[in-house]
Amino acid sequence: MIIVIANQKGGCGKTTTAVNLAGALAARKKDVILVDADPQGSALKWRSLSVKDFPVPVVSIPKPVLDQELPQLARKYDYVIADTPPGMEEITRSALVCANLAIVPMQPSPLDLWSGTDIVTLIRRAELLNPTLKTWLLLNRKIQGTRLGRESLEALKEFPFPLLKTEIHQRVLLAETILHGQTITQVSPDCPSSLEFFALSLELVPEEKNETTAKPERDHPDR
Ligand SMILES: Nc1ncnc2c1ncn2[C@@H]1O[C@H](COP(=O)(O)OP(=O)(O)OP(=O)(O)O)[C@@H](O)[C@H]1O
Ligand SMILES: [Mg+2]
Repeated sequence: MIIVIANQKGGCGKTTTAVNLAGALAARKKDVILVDADPQGSALKWRSLSVKDFPVPVVSIPKPVLDQELPQLARKYDYVIADTPPGMEEITRSALVCANLAIVPMQPSPLDLWSGTDIVTLIRRAELLNPTLKTWLLLNRKIQGTRLGRESLEALKEFPFPLLKTEIHQRVLLAETILHGQTITQVSPDCPSSLEFFALSLELVPEEKNETTAKPERDHPDR
């Protein structure tokens, strides 16, 4: 399965989602590779800060050749997760035309929601070549109990793609994971952010009957 994390809007959480979704799937013993398609090399830098084993291999392919490269990787790995750059439509488009799933992280901010029309256009173009592409919106950096959070949820319903049930909340520990060069699942497997990424992984890749991974069950207060 090829999962592409895309949104031309900068800073909406593409890399955070790609790295931590890959980490959650790896914790479930899935065979995952993370592709850094961003010339900024954020996922690669994240991995390079790791002092202990990073849970998934990371390869850098920051060129509009992902329609060739991702299907080749998908022959070797069960899940190929691609982190795409802001802007740079050609690179993102080359990933979307071969993807099974596109995940569009959105922040609860009017500026992000207004610029969401760009990704809708890009996905619609990719669908012409890839009609089975399934796109999901993901609310990221939600702050519990805010008007912005509630109104953004309503605004996201206006988009022509469904919204994932899992929401990723704004949390300092999640932002800090990069300092450790680790995924949130490695840093704190039972923390609320870990549970959210675990839930996201289950929403996208439902549990198989023979799946044996011990799931984090406790819910901890926010950190
Ligand atoms: N849920 C969250 N809670 C706290 N911080 C977050 C969250 N999501 C993202 N961030 C922070 O927001 C910043 C931007 O996130 P990230 O780099 O993942 O976005 P991006 O879409 O990949 O950006 P770019 O478009 O530049 O590639 C980072 O500092 C990240 O740590
Ligand atoms: Mg990024």
